[in-house]
Amino acid sequence: MAILKLYEYPDEVLRQKCERVSKIDDELRKFLDNMLETMYADKGCGLAAPQVGVTKRIIVLDPNPSDEDLSLRRPMYLVNPEIVWRSDETVLFNEGCLSLPNQRADVERYKCVRVHYTDYNGKEQEILADDLLAIILQHEIDHLDGVLYIDHLSRLKRSRLLKKLEKFREEKAQGNS
Ligand code: NI
Repeated sequence: MAILKLYEYPDEVLRQKCERVSKIDDELRKFLDNMLETMYADKGCGLAAPQVGVTKRIIVLDPNPSDEDLSLRRPMYLVNPEIVWRSDETVLFNEGCLSLPNQRADVERYKCVRVHYTDYNGKEQEILADDLLAIILQHEIDHLDGVLYIDHLSRLKRSRLLKKLEKFREEKAQGNS
């Protein structure tokens, strides 16, 4: 397995509409494994293919990416995921994204979603998700359409967050953080 290069805002690969995957073979499974390893290495709970520079409709996630107890990990691989139902109820959740390091903001999401996808073995699956899993799914599926969580914020909140991101990067470049 290998750790893949992570693409960060404002890289334009994050703004592409990703293509559907037509075949799940060993090469694709190797990519899925590498995506998952990259996600765990960066301590994320979800990762979408464009974040590693691949514009295909693929996400991996784990609502409990525990480092201490690997038996608690619940990795999921979703190919061509599609939200086929959304609840009326919405929730606010404080989200972050590996492509916007060290930033978080409250985003409104549907409380429950039903998602249709193809799994690691090429089998069609459907999952009814709520709370954290539903939020991760919505965040990651957004990535496949070139949408970032900051797009759901008001212009003011977005520009504040982007300024903080810029500051974080400057400090990091100077070795202060
Ligand atoms: Ni993200």
